Formats: sequence, C-alpha cells, structure tokens
Amino acid sequence: MKGDNALIEKMEVGEKAAEFVKDGMVVGLGTGSTVYYFMSKLGHLVQQGLSIKGVPTSKQTEKLALELGIPLVSLNEIEQIDVAVDGADEIDSELNLIKGGGGALLREKIIANAAKTFIVVADSHKNVDTLGTFPLPVEVVPFGYEMTMKYIRELGGNPKLRQKEATPFLTDNGNYIIDTSFQEIKKPRDLEKNLNLIPGVVDNGLFIDMADTVITIVDNTLVTKIRG
Ligand code: A5P
Repeated sequence: MKGDNALIEKMEVGEKAAEFVKDGMVVGLGTGSTVYYFMSKLGHLVQQGLSIKGVPTSKQTEKLALELGIPLVSLNEIEQIDVAVDGADEIDSELNLIKGGGGALLREKIIANAAKTFIVVADSHKNVDTLGTFPLPVEVVPFGYEMTMKYIRELGGNPKLRQKEATPFLTDNGNYIIDTSFQEIKKPRDLEKNLNLIPGVVDNGLFIDMADTVITIVDNTLVTKIRG
C-alpha cells in the first residue's frame, strides 16, 4: 500500500511543480520517478503551445524529454536557468537534501546551482528530522577509489561501492558512486565540505541551502514549503 500511495503522491507533487513553469522559461529537468510526472505534465503543456527549453540532469532525462517532445538546450548555450525541478531522497526541516539515489547528483547540483529558483518535489516518505538514514551518494573518480573510500571512512561513514550487475555502477560522467552510510548527519554543512576536500571526490549528494521550495505531502495534504 505504501508503494501505491507513494506513486499517487509523486504524481500530485510532480504535476503541481509544472504550475511554476511559464512561457519562455529555461527549465532544469531533474532525474527520477517523481520528476517523471513533472515532465509528463510539461510534455502535455508543450503540446498545447507552451514554449520552453529544458536542460536535462541526466542521459535518462534527456531521453525522456525527447520522447515527450520537450525541446532541449545545452547548459553552455544559456546564461541562467529560470527554474529547476528535481526530486530528493531525504529532506530535513531546513530543506537541506540528500540526493543521488539515481546516481545523477553531479549534474543535478550543477543545474540546481545555475537555477534562479530550485524546486524539489517529493512524496511524504522523503521528509526526515535529520539527514542520514539514506546512504549518502558520493561521486568519485575510479582512479584510486579504494584510497578515497579510506578517507571517507575517516569522516565517520561506512562507504560501499555501488554495483550494477556485478560491476561498478558508472555515472553519466564515467565516475563511480560510493554509497556512504552515516546513520545520522548532525552537521550536513561541514560534511558536504569535508567530503569534497578529499582528492578523488568529485561531489556528494548533500544539497545545503539550495532548495528554494519543496512541494511535498504532509498528513495527506499537498504542502509547498519555502526556505526561510
Ligand atoms: C537522482 O540521482 C536523484 O537525486 C533523485 O532525484 C532522487 O533519487 C529522487 O528520486 P525519486 O523521485 O525517483 O525518488
């Protein structure tokens, strides 16, 4: 039942986010099963005449956008993204996030950072008091990754190389993902910085002070939270 509810919630929040997209905008297109509903709605609106350009956060999203008829533009051809919409794996009360469950965290962070407004869409199960139950995805270059994992361990994490069909999972950037369990991340700002100081780490899935708005479900009600 939880699965069914989650799907309905994903559809509700995803479709709601489409209301923030206006004619002429450049739109960051996130990755994942919640953004799927946002993009499907956007595809319909484009068919009805809405003129937008999308910037995809992954190859998977690029493919979906092409299937839905959403025109795309490269990040290198634009000055700014008007609004970016993406999912999250965990959201705390300050609207800090863990992202990267789908492995797209690096492009997602680049695009969220380039967006004037960054909107997160998430079903109710993503809301937490403290980040960290979901293992934090850390993108690392393949070279010397065992050594990189050793330094991640020294920060208190339990790192595990993400595998797909018995070989290391490769990101769209040709890197590895180290899923790192911290149980409870008490100082997410410090951890985000400290992880990124390790040579070999490209970026990690902590998105601190980045989300402007979170569209989610609380007590079966659609809620729009704004970062204070
Ligand atoms: C992709 O790398 C992730 O950051 C996703 O945005 C996140 O995992 C949420 O995905 P779902 O919407 O599928 O739960």
